[in-house]
Amino acid sequence: MPDKIKWGVMGLGKIAGKFAADLILSENSLLYAVASRDIDKAKKFAAKHSAVNYYGSYRELAEDPGVDIVYIATPHPLHYENTMMCLENNKAVLVEKPIAMNYKQAKEMTDKAKEKGVFLMEAMWSRFIPSIEKALEIVDSGEIGEVIYTKGDFGFIGDPDPEKRVYNKKLGGGSLLDIGIYPLYLSQLFLGTPEKIQATARFSNTGVDSFLAALLEFKNNKKAFIESSFEFLTPTEGFIFGDKGFLKLHTRFHHTTKISVYHYEDFARDINFDLKGNGYYYEIESVNKCLNEKLLENPKYTHSDSLNLISSMDKIRKIIGLEYDADN
Ligand SMILES: NC(=O)c1ccc[n+]([C@@H]2O[C@H](COP(=O)([O-])OP(=O)(O)OC[C@H]3O[C@@H](n4cnc5c(N)ncnc54)[C@H](OP(=O)(O)O)[C@@H]3O)[C@@H](O)[C@H]2O)c1
Repeated sequence: MPDKIKWGVMGLGKIAGKFAADLILSENSLLYAVASRDIDKAKKFAAKHSAVNYYGSYRELAEDPGVDIVYIATPHPLHYENTMMCLENNKAVLVEKPIAMNYKQAKEMTDKAKEKGVFLMEAMWSRFIPSIEKALEIVDSGEIGEVIYTKGDFGFIGDPDPEKRVYNKKLGGGSLLDIGIYPLYLSQLFLGTPEKIQATARFSNTGVDSFLAALLEFKNNKKAFIESSFEFLTPTEGFIFGDKGFLKLHTRFHHTTKISVYHYEDFARDINFDLKGNGYYYEIESVNKCLNEKLLENPKYTHSDSLNLISSMDKIRKIIGLEYDADN
């Protein structure tokens, strides 16, 4: 049995806590070190999640020779510099979504990972959720026929505090990059890369998209519709329509525990799933497998997948007129 993979966690906010709780469920993983800008916060986080070491700066984590891979859970505008620092130190990286603020940054990151011969992956955890794997399997079996259209929405009431991440432009706020990325990924997973995009948005007084809707067109006139919102709650469901039937991914679709399979002539069946921990367990196990096999990319979620996704988001932002500091 291979040694446990020694994980580091950088940026100890909300998602880092959920991820660390799932790391403990993974028998192949060890939470080796955590890093915050605040040493006391790091010490408390390390005690809560039984981390071996803790640091009061990100650099110390990136330079720790004992760490195999760093999970980066800082706000989006920091993903680029935090990832580059880790890669420069020959550390493998799992970086939260979105991989970066724009395609240019993401391309530099994936190029750097290749140059250094180091594993890099965007933490698109949906790809590894058992129900999503099942949806792919059903589509591949031909049960719902040829996929023609996907639809997905993701909406919640965002914390209105302009200093907090969701509405704060300096912290990469806005619904597209934060949650619209999930229905966009659903379309990419089942239909590929869009050839044409239409989009519309509502903006908050902090200058970010509080609501976004986009219609995407793919090869052979296939379509997808996506919505994201911080202004109102939406059902947060996903649909994959084929020419023989469709799949409904129940809320929240991006880590759903229930799929309904419909044939057009009659209702077919529901499939229920158990989710281990918070659902991050599955991407953790997949990344561990890649590291044990000395892979530089995850074949289930490659650099190209990330680059296609961020490229579509760049295009949508251009249409709605949303620019961040990183674009200039
Ligand atoms: N996969 C998922 O399900 C999921 C869910 C939520 C969020 N995310 C992604 O994870 C990332 C973090 O989201 P979150 O909700 O965990 O955010 P959060 O609670 O605000 O935590 C972000 C952490 O980043 C660090 N940080 C470094 N510079 C910062 C700055 N200038 N301002 C604020 N924080 C700074 C802080 O950690 P220290 O104080 O310890 O340095 C902070 O606690 C985002 O990119 C988001 O898209 C993913």
